[in-house]
Amino acid sequence: MEFKKFKSELEASKYVAKIVIDKIKANSGIKLGLATGSTPVCLYAELAHDYKTNHTNWSQVKTFNLDEYDGVDYASDISYHKFMKDELFNHVNIDTNNTFFPEKECNFDKFIKEEGGIDLQILGIGVNGHIGFNEPGSTENSQTRIVDLTPITVEVNGNKYFDGELDKVPKKAISMGLETIMQSKQIILLAFGKCKEDAIKKLSDAKTFDINFPASILIKHPNVTIIYDEEINI
Ligand code: GLP
Repeated sequence: MEFKKFKSELEASKYVAKIVIDKIKANSGIKLGLATGSTPVCLYAELAHDYKTNHTNWSQVKTFNLDEYDGVDYASDISYHKFMKDELFNHVNIDTNNTFFPEKECNFDKFIKEEGGIDLQILGIGVNGHIGFNEPGSTENSQTRIVDLTPITVEVNGNKYFDGELDKVPKKAISMGLETIMQSKQIILLAFGKCKEDAIKKLSDAKTFDINFPASILIKHPNVTIIYDEEINI
């Protein structure tokens, strides 16, 4: 696991955007695993800016999102489907038929395998070490499934996206599992801001997989880069 520190979220996001763009140029049909949340917003803005100025061709790219709230209307403001359209898909020439999300009664893991697997997976991290919505207690061989969000995740997301109205935060989600994330050929995890410092410290100290800190599974992957900013001191 390689750790790379950047001066700012913007610099870090520009660096990762270049990696993504170079990979699309080298492999027009690349399979990207994508994250939601506040962390990748700047990265998606950089990718949108690149499309506007350089017209990198996304027409053959396929994307697989990590998660979605359970039971939400995909058109609603809280849905990750809408988030991805607003932040990225509406700003590049991706074919929306090539954008996939985990869904009930769809074998997402098998589908990803049949598609040849994810070439590059972008991850954020929760303050409790969740990746996707794999909360503490997620097993190494976990697959795409409905998960219960922990009180801390409900609180953090409630404060960030629901004006602190925790009763409005969905309590369940559907998430790609840890096993499927680990089958990605390359993983880049982004973390910005003081609030992620403890999680990134814990990750850099991890020696083995700790079921109570799901991101620790990444130490077993051969090609993981952790990209973080100066607010995080490890
Ligand atoms: C969210 C998402 C994750 C994300 C993480 C961090 O709730 N389900 O995929 O990486 O938690 O979120 P944020 O980037 O908003 O800090």
